[in-house]
Formats: sequence, structure tokens, C-alpha cells
Amino acid sequence: MSPINAYIIIGVSALFIVGIKLLASPKTARLGNLVAAGGMLIAFLTLHKPTGDYVWSQTWSINYTLIAIGIVIGLIIGAIGAYSVKMTSMPQMVALFNGVGGGAAALVASLEFTRPDNQITTFLAVSMLFATLIGSLSFSGSIIAFLKLEGKFEKPYTFPGQNILNGLVLLVILGLGGWLTFYASEGGTFTAFIVLFLLALFFGVAMVMPIGGADMPVVISLLNSFTGLAVAADGFAINNLAMVVAGTLVGSSGTLLTLLMCKAMNRPVSNVLFGAFGSAGGTGAAGGDLAGKTVKSIQADEAALLLAYAQQVVIVPGYGMAVAQAQHQVQELSEELAERGVEVRFAIHPVAGRMPGHMNVLLAEANVPYDQLCEMEAINPTMDRVDVCLVIGANDVVNPAAREDKGSPIYGMPIIDADHAKTVIVMKRSMATGFAGIENHLFYKDNTRMLFGDAKASLNALVAQVKAS
Ligand code: TAP
Repeated sequence: MSPINAYIIIGVSALFIVGIKLLASPKTARLGNLVAAGGMLIAFLTLHKPTGDYVWSQTWSINYTLIAIGIVIGLIIGAIGAYSVKMTSMPQMVALFNGVGGGAAALVASLEFTRPDNQITTFLAVSMLFATLIGSLSFSGSIIAFLKLEGKFEKPYTFPGQNILNGLVLLVILGLGGWLTFYASEGGTFTAFIVLFLLALFFGVAMVMPIGGADMPVVISLLNSFTGLAVAADGFAINNLAMVVAGTLVGSSGTLLTLLMCKAMNRPVSNVLFGAFGSAGGTGAAGGDLAGKTVKSIQADEAALLLAYAQQVVIVPGYGMAVAQAQHQVQELSEELAERGVEVRFAIHPVAGRMPGHMNVLLAEANVPYDQLCEMEAINPTMDRVDVCLVIGANDVVNPAAREDKGSPIYGMPIIDADHAKTVIVMKRSMATGFAGIENHLFYKDNTRMLFGDAKASLNALVAQVKAS
């Protein structure tokens, strides 16, 4: 590798790493995106030649027109997608982008593996087959994740013997992969390779179908790490170190994000992948300990009085705020209360909503100051002193069953201690359950009042009443 290429690779890698670091805060995330994209552009413009001794170096030729066409098409599709997609559809978009990334990684490896002049070593064959397998299952799995998030076959799709069938398919894939590795340099492997490719696509579908729609963010994050690994393997296969670095970064950060999400839900990854979580489907009818208990409702005018005369208010946003697109109304209410001298803070649960950082993104869009956003661990010790906790479309993340009910599926999940506040006002449309499909003990507590209705409409009423009070 020439020294200049080595310096470029180090520089590009540094830009990727700094870009990811900057993504950690909403204040710097936009810059982080630009820095990483800058790294990618430099890689595009400079690292298109093989960076070392390359078996096909004599036949290597660069088609600059094709590269330019690819960049322009990608830019146009990416820009249209980014400008037109709704905030609530962001997970779908991430699923699609991840899927095409995995598909592209699989295609690159496939083309290299099936080249007629191919004379590949065992190491290169393993890299190519790995990238093909992981990239194509990430592609088909991401498409299913996208469809599930769009509301198609949202429920976990399970049948008896499913795990055995999936296990058998995996065994055949591994067997074929082993055989292809040893016979990679010989002719006649094309058919076996295509079978492996198709089985990997099938495996991606079979892996994601049994998982419930609401677990898709975790699955997408996992598939994202797969795509990263496929790209890194591609990098080895075509001797491109920038791809190895970029792929490894995506692979490791995707894996960490998956683990962090599972930790915040107190569920092992295996439970997400094989637990068919959400298939029970909650009806909202109170049973067990809650049988016979009733909830107390409240009207907007009464709730507004409680808020307006409070000293400390904590707002807990959840998935329902995203559905109602009520973030601007939340900001208006918080500003109105602050003008009256009320101290308002927002309690952000790490898995509130349906994607990592969902609430932060929505509140940032509505210009809620970052310093008002508090993490769960910081706000919980102060909840006893809070006068009113306003829960807006959140359910599971404030369910005390996670602390109190050992038999509950969410037992052990860290929650925001909304019930510790002097008064809790819960805004939702009905008694329907949240993502976990279970009863919420909070709704039946003595200090809880239910403000029923769409979050946006209820917040509009609250703002008007607070202004009038
Ligand atoms: P959920 O438990 O899903 O509850 C959302 C609540 O919002 C529902 O009970 C619903 O009740 C209410 N709602 C829906 N539309 C509404 C509207 N227009 N106006 C007012 N309320 C509305 O939400 P959460 O508390 O944010 O918890 C998130 C859940 O998702 C957790 O269980 C978490 O483990 C899971 N999860 C999260 C992630 C990430 S990364 N965030 C990933 C996978 C899974 P009504 O229908 O009665 O209105």
C-alpha cells in the first residue's frame, strides 16, 4: 500500500469515528453526520484503487462514469427520502437504508466470488461468502422489518417446528458455505453459490417473521450491525481498508446499541429474537391484582389548575406523543408553565417510543431546551418532590408492575417513577395497553388521574386553560 493511501485511510477512519462521537448529542448530531459524510466522500474520491497487492490488479479498471451516476442517484434518493419522511416513519426509513446497504455488500461479494477469472485463497473465499450470507439476510430481514413497521403482518408469525426448520436451513447454508470455500477456485460452483444466496435471503425472512412489530427497532439495530460486518468482510475481499474500518465501526456500534436497548427493556437479545413478544395482545381489561379496581378521570380545566399552581412539574413523553405528533403543544405548555414560575423538566426513558432517541428527536424538533431533558437515573431520585407528573402517551415506561409484580413480563425493567409524584396525570385515549400488552398499575393508584383523549387535543385544551387560569 502506498504511504499516501495509508494516510488517507487513517484520516477517513478518524472522520468516521469523530462523526459517530458527535452523533451522541442532539446539539452536535448534524455536524457529526456531515463529518462522517465528508469522510465517505474523500474515500469515494481517493480510495477507488486497490490498496495492496491484489490478485486481479492487472484486470482492474475504474468506471468513473458509473461511480458518478451511483453517487448522484444515491444523493437524490437519500435527499428525497430525508425531506419527505415523517418523524414517526424514521425507523422504517432506517430499515430500508440498512437493507440496501446489506444487499449492496452481498452483491459486491457475489460479483467477486463468481468472477470467471477468479483465483481466490481460502481467506478471501471465507470473506466473500460471509459477506454474501450476512449481507443478503440483512437485506431480506430489513425488508420484512420495514413491512412490519408499516403495519403489514405486524404480529409475530410463528408455527410449530419453526426453530427446527430455521436451524436446518442454517445448517444447509453453513454446509454449502464450507463446500464452496474449498472449491472456490474451481468451476461449477455457480449453482451452489446461487442456492446459498437464495437460502440466505430466505433465512433473513424466517428470522424476522416470528418477531413482533414493536421489537423491530432492536431487530433493525441488530441487522445494522450485520450489514456493518458484511461491509467489513467485503473490505477484506476486495482489499479495501476503508471498507474494513467503516464496516467494523457500524458492526460494533450496532451491536452495542442492540445490547443497550435490550438492557433498558431488561430483556435478553434471545427474548427479542425468539420470544414472540407482543403476541399476547392486551385488551385493557383489568385482571389479577387489579380486578375490581377503577380509575379516576380528570377534565382539562381541573388538570390545568393542578399544573398552573404546581412548583415542580415533570413531563414523561412516550410513544403516544409521537403518534399524536403533539411535541409542539408539549413545548407550548411547558413554556406557558415556566412563565408562571413553574419548574418544568422532561423525564426521558431510554426506550420510550419506538426507536432510540425518539423522544429527544421530537422534543428537539419542537425546540424544547436540552437542559430541560433529564435521564431516568437523574430524575428518579427527585420524583418524591414533584407536584405533578404529566404522562403524555407513555405507558410501559411508567408501569410500576416493573418494580412490584414479579410475574409481570416487564418485571425488572427500569422505569420512570412517575407514581412517586404527589399527583400523576396520564394522558391517553383509552384504557388500551402499551407495547408490552399488559395492564398498567399506575392508572389505578390513588394519586393518578386519567385525562382521556388524543394527546394533541388534550394538550391544546390544557394550554388554553392554563392561559385562562
Ligand atoms: P407504550 O407502552 O407503547 O404506550 C404508548 C401509549 O400511548 C399507549 O398506551 C396508547 O394508549 C397511547 N397513545 C397512542 N396514541 C395516542 C394518542 N394519539 N394520544 C394519546 N395517547 C396515545 O409506549 P412507551 O411508554 O413509550 O413505551 C415504549 C415501549 O416500546 C416499551 O415497552 C419499550 O420496551 C418498547 N420498545 C421501545 C423501543 C425503543 S428503542 N424506543 C424499541 C423496541 C421496543 P391509547 O391507545 O389508550 O391512547
